[in-house]
Amino acid sequence: VALHLDHGSFEGAKACINAGFSSIMFDGSHYPIAENIAKTTQLVHTCDVLGLSLEAEVGSIGGEEDGVIGAGECADPDECKAIADLGVTMLAAGIGNIHGKYPENWAGLSFETLAAVKEKVGDMPLVLHGGTGIPADMIKKAISLGVAKINVNTECQLAFQAATREYIEAGKDLQGKGFDPRKLLAPGFEAIKATVKEKMELFGSIGKA
Ligand code: 13P
Repeated sequence: VALHLDHGSFEGAKACINAGFSSIMFDGSHYPIAENIAKTTQLVHTCDVLGLSLEAEVGSIGGEEDGVIGAGECADPDECKAIADLGVTMLAAGIGNIHGKYPENWAGLSFETLAAVKEKVGDMPLVLHGGTGIPADMIKKAISLGVAKINVNTECQLAFQAATREYIEAGKDLQGKGFDPRKLLAPGFEAIKATVKEKMELFGSIGKA
């Protein structure tokens, strides 16, 4: 288990390094590539010295998360190589993925982009963001092409919401001590656990830590 900063700003990354996080993602994808390289380079050195893993990002990833909006872009493989060569631990590259739910007309992942990126970056582990709602066959193909870390957030939140709604709508918070947060939040917590287990099975990550 890592204490990981997701989509950190440059200042946020430094603050989390100082606070003792074991893994940092610096998302410099919205900067011009030269600035992304310059900032990522500084963090590579710090993380190296402290033994922390560092994830970098190239190319905007679609959807909206924490106020950052992208358009389902695909990363430039040469830019991916430039960032990978800095010595980061893993690299997030846009391959048509989007944060949150996918629109009905989503074109799917661009395996062409993924293969081109992989060709340039060699053994660098690739990170797939926007894991919610990507069909199992696409996930498996992405893993076979070099994806080593997959981020899933919205799906866990929706599982929590559905289980909590069911608990309240059944009036369970009004029975006995059902209002106790340890009871009221338990179904949602269990629902997230079940979703995580399902994803670990699909991703083939069980027993790999
Ligand atoms: P989803 O919320 O779409 O699963 O994306 C999660 C993510 O990529 C976090 O960085």
